[in-house]
Order: sequence, then C-alpha cells, then structure tokens
Amino acid sequence: MRCDLILRDATIIDGTGADRTTGDVAVTGDRIVGVGDLGAWSADREVIATGRVVAPGFIDAHTHDDRAVLCGPSCMLCKMSQGVTTVVVGNCGISLSPVRMKTRPTPPLDLLGTEEWWTFDSFGDYAERLARDPAPVNTVALIGHMSLRVEAMGGDVFRPASDGEAHHMQTRLKDALSQGGSGFSTGLYYPASNQAPTDEVIAVAEALRGTGKLYVTHMRDEGDGVLASIEESLKIGSAVGAPVVISHHKCVMPWNFGRSHETLAVLEAAQRRHKVDFDVYPYNASSTVLMPEKIHPDVPVRVTWSVPYPQFTGRFLSDIAAEWETDIISAAKRLLPAGAIYYQINEEDMQRILAHPRSMVGSDGLPHDQFPHPRLWGSFPRVLGHYARDLGLFSLETAVHKMTGKVAEVFGLEGRGVIRAGAFADLVLFDPLTVRDAASFDTPTLPADGIVETWVAGQSSYVHGQGATSARAGRLLTRQPA
Ligand code: ZN
Ligand code: CU
Repeated sequence: MRCDLILRDATIIDGTGADRTTGDVAVTGDRIVGVGDLGAWSADREVIATGRVVAPGFIDAHTHDDRAVLCGPSCMLCKMSQGVTTVVVGNCGISLSPVRMKTRPTPPLDLLGTEEWWTFDSFGDYAERLARDPAPVNTVALIGHMSLRVEAMGGDVFRPASDGEAHHMQTRLKDALSQGGSGFSTGLYYPASNQAPTDEVIAVAEALRGTGKLYVTHMRDEGDGVLASIEESLKIGSAVGAPVVISHHKCVMPWNFGRSHETLAVLEAAQRRHKVDFDVYPYNASSTVLMPEKIHPDVPVRVTWSVPYPQFTGRFLSDIAAEWETDIISAAKRLLPAGAIYYQINEEDMQRILAHPRSMVGSDGLPHDQFPHPRLWGSFPRVLGHYARDLGLFSLETAVHKMTGKVAEVFGLEGRGVIRAGAFADLVLFDPLTVRDAASFDTPTLPADGIVETWVAGQSSYVHGQGATSARAGRLLTRQPA
C-alpha cells in the first residue's frame, strides 16, 4: 500500500480517552487511511515518530478568532503552534456576522476589531469568505446575541429588546443557522447584553428549536450569582430544546473561591435532565475589555491594550494609578477603550473544573490584544505539560480527550477529534517529555515547546522552529446533531 504520509512507531493517543498504543498512522489526501502496524506500507513522506505522541489535532472549544481566521496563517500561529486544528468562534455573544458596523462597536464587540472588520451582513457572507479564502484551521461558528442585538436595535442597546426586535433577531439567527452556524452564544455578563431579560434570550433562542444546535453562554454572573446563572442557562436551553455549553466555567472574586464544589454538583445533577457541558482555560486570571465598573481593590488588574495609552500595556492598573496620582477606577476610565487581565480565579477551583469529566479545554484567547493573556499561546501545551505530566492532575489520554474527542462530541463534528481510519487527518505530533507552554503573563506571545508538527486535513500547517506553512486547509464545519 502506498500513501502520502506515514508517522512511524508513534505513541498513538486516539482522542477517545483510551490508553495509548504504539504504531503507525497513514494519511492520504485529507484522511487517515491506516492505523496500526503498517510495516508493508510506503509513503511519499515518512516521519520517524519514536517516543513522540500523535494525537488528533486539538479543537479549541472557546475562541474569539472570528477575524483571525480570515487573516492568513500568521494570524493563527498562536493556535497552530499549540497543535490546534479547529477553532470555535463567535463566543460570549460576540460574532463578526450578521451585522455591519459604521462606527467603532461598543465593548466588548471591539475585541474583534474596529468598524472596518465588520462587513458581513449575513452569516452566509462570512461563510462564503471562508470558502473563497480558506483559513489555515477549521472553523466552527456560533452566532452572537450581542451582534444580533446591534443589528436589530442599532446604537440603542442599553435596554431590553422589544418583542418585534427579539423576533427579528430570531429570524436572523434562523437564517445564520441554516447557512452553517452551529449554535447561538450569549454574553449576558456584559453591559448592554445584561439588559436582556431571560425572556428575550429565550425568544431569540427559539430559532434553535428542532435544529439540534447549541446554546453557549458566558453567563450573567460568574461570581455571587453563579448558581442562579447556571439555572438561567439551563432554563433557556430547556425552553427551546437546545444542549447547553457553559463557557469558561469559573467562580470569580476571592469570597467565592471554593464554590466550584457547588457549581459542579449542580451541573452533575442537571446533566440527568438536560445535556450540559462546559469549557475551561487553565489559568487563574480572566481577560476581557477593561470595565471600570467591574474593578475591585482585591483583584489585581493588568492592561492588555489601550487606545489612548498604548505605552501602558502589560502594566498593572495600580501602578498606573500611582503614577497618575489617582485611584484605580479613575485610571481605568482614562485608559478606555482598553482591555485587561483580572486575577480573580482560584487555582484549586480551576483545577477541579479542569479535572471534571465533562470539561473541555477552550483557550478564550484574544488574538488582537497587544499584550494578551497567555492563554492565547499557551492553553493546550499547559494542560498537557504542566497539569497532566508535571502535576499529574489526570492522564495524558484524558488531557488529549478534553481537547479532541470530547469537544468533537459536544460540537457534533463528525470524523474529527479521533484517530481512526476514515477520520480527517487533523493531527498533532508532540514530545510528551518536553511539551510545555512558554507563554507567561510576562512574556505572553511565545510559541510552545515540544509541539513538533501540526497537520490540517493532511497538510502540514505548522512545523516547530519554522512556524506556520502557507497551507490553508481549513473548512467551515457545521454541527451534525447526534
Ligand atoms: Zn466570555
Ligand atoms: Cu470568551
């Protein structure tokens, strides 16, 4: 037998959570064509992978890469250098379609860029752009509530939507889902969106009914009201018959530390009534736009970008305030529009959530931040190296499952997230002894160590030490309900 590529004598971790095996993996075109002892096979390219792990390419369950996937391989280096081959975009209520902007979008929509990037009237236009000008990684797209709100309500979003506006959003969402969207996301935590009562969200989410597509949410409150927010999320999903994904699950603010015991118990109980899963990033700090009203003296804040004061990126807000001889809230207001890292997560809570069998890894990386949270470049190797290998939080097989098979199951991605003959050849080759995140809070944009090569649909897309190749093998993937 002859094929395009063989990885020989590799440690195969197949993404299902099953124990590793040793063998060969053969690829022809965009598919895996053989797995096991392929000694009789030959290939155009043979890679001796002794001592290295071959795994399904990682699926980043939570991203804000809506714009980054349109910008070519250099924009996705942050992900491909971690072994990521598929990204889920449109999270937290923020999606680049279906809305056109004439002025700078209100935060946090501006995380995706200024008005010139907002040119997609419909999700169909966005999908067409991805088809015409393919991304280097696969894209799964959610449609954001906030984007739908701006489309329906214009600049007047700091209020609940009228019934007519909610119905308009529902129609737009229905169109987007029929054009290849995989679900509906909300960011009810954020100003403007937090004006939306539960009923408004249900009215829009009605578009999900009968489609099998997902309701994905950055909840209204991840702090004091986290349990009520979990209930609200389940209520919305149940009302329209949609599986629920809780985004970047955490319990924020020091006085809520330890409450993941309660939230995980509630999620386990709920699971018996309704399908609910969650993603998590492996860090003790969050990051989003800078919101002066959310600042608390017990939570250190670091600036990731600032339009008026770009020279202050990477610095702590308290230091900037001291330099300006003012308080932290006033300093934050002066820096706007801006982004920030908030050190408001407890390491033990994060580890408990990460170790939970229902959790998936999602980076929540912010690719356009000047001094980004290190999760953008480090999430996946950090789980493999620091948490699985060094701390022994779980096995390497479990770590890989949380970034491959588990995510493919939740998002309904047929033929992805698994190594078997017939599956797509989205693959990563890494060294289990050296894999590690190099990006840190002080040096946030370094590629990982130990990720040797990444293939998307059989095409080499990233090579360690060389960077991204010119391959653009990514496709738009649409959820196939089970
Ligand atoms: Zn979010
Ligand atoms: Cu997010």
